[in-house]
Amino acid sequence: MLVRQKKFMFIRVIMLICLLLGNVVLAAEPPLKENACCACHKDYSKIMPKKHPEVGSVKACLSCHTPDPADHEPTNFSTEIHKVHKAGKNELKCAVCHSF
Ligand code: HEC
Ligand code: HEC
Ligand code: HEC
Repeated sequence: MLVRQKKFMFIRVIMLICLLLGNVVLAAEPPLKENACCACHKDYSKIMPKKHPEVGSVKACLSCHTPDPADHEPTNFSTEIHKVHKAGKNELKCAVCHSF
């Protein structure tokens, strides 16, 4: 009887560890820092792509370009933002924008 209880306890602990690890993997999308862009870009109209829908008075890019938390695929926006900050001397470290 006692041996069996120990065995169940062991299985539960393993299951718990798997659950925790699973969450860490799923939460792999690195969160952005607060005001990740305005540290370098004071005037957002300058970084707005030339072909872009009218945004009116809304300025913060991420107020519209919010990633879908259930979907960890890169968006067109994240792909574009990563690309422009990887080019030559504009290369930025990940931690400039993300908090890991
Ligand atoms: C550490 C400084 C820094 C940070 C932080 C930063 N950028 Fe940039 N970014 C640059 C530099 C340098 C360039 C290239 C020079 C330029 O065009 O101003 C650039 C270029 C761009 C461009 C291309 C502009 C063009 O003329 O085509 C876009 C779009 C852009 N950044 C958006 C963003 C967004 C959105 C964020 C926040 C998620 C961000 N940047 C954060 C430094 C930064
Ligand atoms: C009011 C909402 C809004 C704001 C604010 C906004 N955008 Fe957009 N952006 C859009 C829409 C709508 C599109 C069209 C493509 C789409 O449907 O996702 C788009 C497209 C883009 C694209 C082409 C890639 C893509 O996702 O299709 C880039 C790059 C982009 N925006 C950059 C920016 C930057 C940089 C800023 C901040 C300076 C910004 N946007 C602010 C709504 C917005
Ligand atoms: C100029 C700022 C900036 C830099 C530098 C940057 N990122 Fe991002 N990253 C973004 C933005 C903006 C998004 C889209 C918004 C979001 O997902 O919260 C994003 C999204 C992501 C995502 C999830 C969506 C996707 O595109 O896959 C991953 C993963 C990621 N970044 C990894 C990285 C890594 C790794 C580096 C360093 C090599 C890096 N980023 C450097 C701004 C940046």
